[in-house]
This record gives sequence, C-alpha cells and structure tokens, in this order.
Amino acid sequence: MRRPMSGPGSLQQGNIVARIDTLLGAMTLAEKIGQLNMAAGSGAVSGPGERVALEEGVRAGHIGSVLNVWGTQQVHALQRLAVENSRLRIPLLVGLDVLHGHRTIFPIPLAEAGLLDEGLWERSAAAAAAEAAADGINLTFAPMLDVSRDPRWGRIAESPGEDPYIAARFAVAKTRGFQGADLREAARVAATAKHLCAYGAVTAGREYAAVDTSMLSVHETYLPPFAAAVGAGVAAIMPAFTDLAGVPLTAHGELLENWLRARQAFAGVVISDYNAVSELINHGVAGDIVEAAALALRAGVDIDMAAGGYSRGLEQALQRGLISMAQLDRSVRRVLELKERLGLFAHPFARGESNPPPESRTLARELARRSIVLLTHRQPVLPLAPGLRRLGLIGPLAEDSAQMLGPWAASGSPREPVSVRAGLAAALPGCRIDCLEGYPLSDDGEPAIGAVEELCQEAELVILCLGEAAVMSGEAASRSHLGLPGGQRAIAEAALASGTPVVALLSSGRPLVVPWLIERAHAVLATWFLGIEAGHAVADVLTGQHNPSGKLTVSWPRAVGQLPIFYAQRPSGRPSRSDERFSSCYLDVPFTPQFHFGHGLSYSRFELQQLECSPLTVRSGGSFTVSVAVENQSDTAGETVVFLFVRDLVASVAQPVLLLKGWQRISLGARERGALRWNIPVEALRFIGRDLEPTLEPGRFEIHVGHSAASVERLACTIELSA
Ligand code: BGC
Repeated sequence: MRRPMSGPGSLQQGNIVARIDTLLGAMTLAEKIGQLNMAAGSGAVSGPGERVALEEGVRAGHIGSVLNVWGTQQVHALQRLAVENSRLRIPLLVGLDVLHGHRTIFPIPLAEAGLLDEGLWERSAAAAAAEAAADGINLTFAPMLDVSRDPRWGRIAESPGEDPYIAARFAVAKTRGFQGADLREAARVAATAKHLCAYGAVTAGREYAAVDTSMLSVHETYLPPFAAAVGAGVAAIMPAFTDLAGVPLTAHGELLENWLRARQAFAGVVISDYNAVSELINHGVAGDIVEAAALALRAGVDIDMAAGGYSRGLEQALQRGLISMAQLDRSVRRVLELKERLGLFAHPFARGESNPPPESRTLARELARRSIVLLTHRQPVLPLAPGLRRLGLIGPLAEDSAQMLGPWAASGSPREPVSVRAGLAAALPGCRIDCLEGYPLSDDGEPAIGAVEELCQEAELVILCLGEAAVMSGEAASRSHLGLPGGQRAIAEAALASGTPVVALLSSGRPLVVPWLIERAHAVLATWFLGIEAGHAVADVLTGQHNPSGKLTVSWPRAVGQLPIFYAQRPSGRPSRSDERFSSCYLDVPFTPQFHFGHGLSYSRFELQQLECSPLTVRSGGSFTVSVAVENQSDTAGETVVFLFVRDLVASVAQPVLLLKGWQRISLGARERGALRWNIPVEALRFIGRDLEPTLEPGRFEIHVGHSAASVERLACTIELSA
C-alpha cells in the first residue's frame, strides 16, 4: 500500500514514478541486482585489491550502495564513479551507523533515553545527521529500537531500555531528528529503524542466540517502537540477525510483508543486517546461497548488506523459479525511490559540501549531564563542598578518556573526550586532585591496595571511577557476570574501608550488579558512556552546577539470577511477597530490583500529592484527565520526571501489573509547588487481545502516578470504563 498522493507534490511524485519506470525498463538483470547489493567500504576493506573491486563494482553498476565509507573525499570519489562512470548513472546510498553522534559523540542511547526529553532526543539526532551528512553520509543504521530487558545482552547499551512506550516515543523523535521534514535537505540522512524484532529477547542474553517469545509479546512489547517509526516516516527498516520461533527475521515474510508493509503501510526499504542473507544457511533454513537470497527477497528484504548473497544468488534463483522478476523489480523500485526521496539524482554531491553546525559540543555536554543518574545519596556529600581542598580519584576510568566514547563511536576521535579527571580539574581549580588507576581496565594486573589506602588517608573525599571498558558492551559483548571486572572490587573495598567518604561513578553500557558498593558508598552515580563531554558533565553534576534529573529506563538488578527483569510483569496467581514462601519470589535474593524502572534522584526532594482522575467513569471514544500536585520540598531548585502508569485489573488477557502511558517533566524552584495534568484518550487503555488485535474491554483501571515504578513512590486512583 502506497501513501495517497494529492496536490502539487503529486505532480512531482508522478515525475519520479515515470523516471523510475524508465530506469527500470533500461536496466539489465545485473544492474537490477546491483541496486540491491550494499558493499562494505573502506572500514571493512582490508587491502587495495578490495578497494579496486569496490570501485569496479560501482562503475559496472553491480553495487548500488555502500556502508562504512565516510569523509567527503572518499564518498565523493565513489559517488563520482556511480553518477559519471556507470552506464545508468544511478547514485549510491552511503550508509553508516550513527548510533550516538557522528564526530561529536553523545551519550549512549541507554543513557540518553533516561533524559525522557523528546526535544533533546530529536536535537541530538539532527546534530548527528548534520555531521554525518557533512561527511557524505546519506543513510544511517539508527535508531536502534530493541526493547531490552536483559542486561547480559551487550546491545542493551544501544537501546532505549525496557519499555515499549518509551521506545516508541524515542523512535519518533529520532526519526524526525535524522530525517527532518524533507529528506532532500543536505543536512539530513535517511533513518533505519532496527532490529525488527525481539532481538533483545535472545536466549539467556547471549548474542545472536535464538529467540522464542510469544506472538503476544511480539505485538505488545517488541513491535510498537517499529510501528511508531513507520508512522513517523522512517525511510528504512533492518530485520534482526536472529530468528523468531525458528524463522529468521531476514526471511520472515509474515512480519516483513504482512505486518510491516500491509498492516503498517511501510513503503520504504528493508535492509538486511550485515551478512544476514548468507547466514540464513547457518540458521538452517536455506541449503545454499541461492535459496538464501530467494528467501530474503521473497520476504521483502530489498537490500543485502555485505553478504554478496543477492549478487551470487538472485540470478540463479530466477532461473530456478524461486523468485519472479516482479519480486525483483519491486525491491529495485523501492531502492530507487529512496534515492529519489534523498534528492540524490538531482544533487548527488550535496552531502559533503557543507560544514556541520558548531553547536554540537555544547549540546553534547547538556545531553551528558542530563543522562547521569544519581542512584543513591546516603550521606550528604554532594554537591561537593566549595571549599574542598584535596580530592582522591581512584579507578581505571578516571583518566581513560577514550572509553568515554562507548561501544559505537566509529567516527569519533579517541583523543577528543574529556576525562573525569580533566573535567574535575577544570571545575575545581583550587582543589588538589590525586589520581590513581588502582587496577587496569585491561584486567591483567594486581590491585594497588596499598596505594589506594594511602591516597584515601590523604583525601577529604574519594571518587571511585569504576566500570566496564567500552568494548564490554555493544554488539558481540554479552556477559554472564555483571559485576566489576577483575580487581576493581578489591580497590573499591579498600576505599570503602578507609573511612573517607566515597562517591562511586559507574561507567558502563548496562546496569552493573554491585549491591555491596551500592549499600556502602556515600553516593553512587550511573555515568554510562557519556561521550565527548563526559568529564565536564560529571563535574557539572558533582559540583552542583547541574542538579541531576536522569532516570533509569531499565530496572537495575540485584543479581544476575533475576534476569530478565522489568517492571511490566504479568501478575502471578501467587503474587510476589517477601513474607510468604509460596509466592513468586526467590529464596536467596529479594524479588525487587536494586533500583526500579524510572529511578533517579536529585539534589532536590519532590513530593507528589492530590492525585485526581476525572471523570471517574469513561466511555469508549472519550478521554479522561489525570492531575497531580508536585512540591519541591527542598531548598534547591530542580527538575524531575513524573510517570503515569495504568493497570487494567480484569481483562481477557491478563495485563501487566503496570504499563507506562505517559510522563512529564517539571522544573520547580526551592519550596515551589506546581501541577501536572494529562489528558488520556480511552484508546490508550487498549491491549493486545488473544487474536493479536488491539482490544478495549470495559472494567476498572488503576491509574498510577509516580517518581518511578516502585510502589512506595506512586499514588493511585481508579476509573471505570463503562460498557
Ligand atoms: C549490526 C547492525 C549494524 C550493521 C552495520 C551489524 O553487525 O548488527 O546494527 O547496523 O552491523 O554496521
């Protein structure tokens, strides 16, 4: 189904269709297949021979798009071959992963999601798009929208967290930011929503492992972010590497054709993941590359990324009758349409001609400081006292600025980021800062316990800079132990035993399981991988220049055995109770997470009061309002996020004990009081029924408004949906 055309745009659209028809009519079979072939460029090309092959492929019309090539000179050289030296002069798509910034690296998505600020989510994508486009890129493989509930999986770092509603709003903001209102603008890039779908549910959190989750979960949890991205006009979709109950997503016609194209009216391009077409053989659903190529094309995968499977297999697939020319043409047409949408035929060199906007560094600092989550603040040691004279900085992440870039920063320079030490030194010129690595991040040394003890004795306060190396999260970075690597615990224990106040910073791409640290440090902050401005952002928060407001978009576990863990659990016949053995709980660890979804402290203290829902009885097609008073009970001005959850008490499919339906931010001065109000359409109470369709059933619904998903932090009222 194509989007309807009308008005002056339809004339232009008519011209485009005619141009594409003409091109299609003129193409040889090899040229058609070439349009579906995305080749890996410089980053993945190991020698001059491969570079020559790439250039020849472009010139011959056997390569229609490239990935991992960036920089104006490189991109334009290839583009020139395509538009000046290939027979039909069709421009190239030039793709790159721009997950959290391009040259200016921003916080990882898991951290940025915790801003809960759609305006900033969109601005960071727009800034990244402008930088990438200035480097010649016209397509990015982002946003990553995998709902992730298992931090053993390293790619949780790239994701917006555990909640489908947040992921859906993230999807819209990111798509808008990358693509803008008109994809022809030279500072915009086509976005790819990935990885459709349920990749986050890999067995035991193990990368690339099988996924066997119910279609109910698929529809209620994993697909909504993709539906939202499509609704926002996302240009491309990438199926996951993984399978879903035995059918690899790269060959999943039911989802790619029936759900994505027919139901969601997606008219864009489906791009396989890296080498995923040929991996259909490993999955055990294709006997050879010809079958693999045919399966993927039939399922609606238009572009084969880096497998060369379409180049090697599609011609024979046609001969064997496994695919039709119409199926092939359909995909070629979609690729050409995207090139038209991007304005590439008219202006193939527009991207790469202008400089990126200068504001990115300021934006990076704002995003980074807003991403920091104050997890605990047991003793009032923060913000740091202005008269502080001697600070100890201990841990492998104190000075290692390169790690701050995180796991996916292909085009960020490791020399650029501000380390924690540099940030604090700039913020505290009158304070002596003694720094000690204590234990190497490479995890191959002896913990320097004596030196730690000595430094702690001399310091007024110690800041522990602990966590993972950047390569320990992201793709192919699943972990089974989520504690601190190697001897980091030993140095932290030595600091905790010293009697000097300890503030711990946790740099990581996932929640870390460190209950012993959380229980004993004076304060603990999740500092993730904050990007290029990491050190300044940390200093802003520690000194109180910025009052923290970041929230967790994942539940933070106490033990690996609790995984997967997430707030939107279905109820049990024997609900979890700490005082009842025959309830849904563990013998050896509480059933609750260390920190609930939505948790994040501030230097201010906010209280919620007077929750009101009106009217108390609603009808289908109507709406209701929810209002709550928020009071800042402290002497510090601050900002917070308030969440709105719903619980459907009785339904034909048991509904989760809480489901997020909204949030709002509020800034309040010292002792100030404000109010928040939501208008919720009754439609928002729909759930996925047994027939996998959105369903609305009358009955009672609890409305919860809170600082987080923790029961002690919520107020609730009940409304009735009448028949
Ligand atoms: C990842 C994708 C990425 C692609 C291209 C793959 O390994 O799974 O997320 O877009 O590589 O870099």
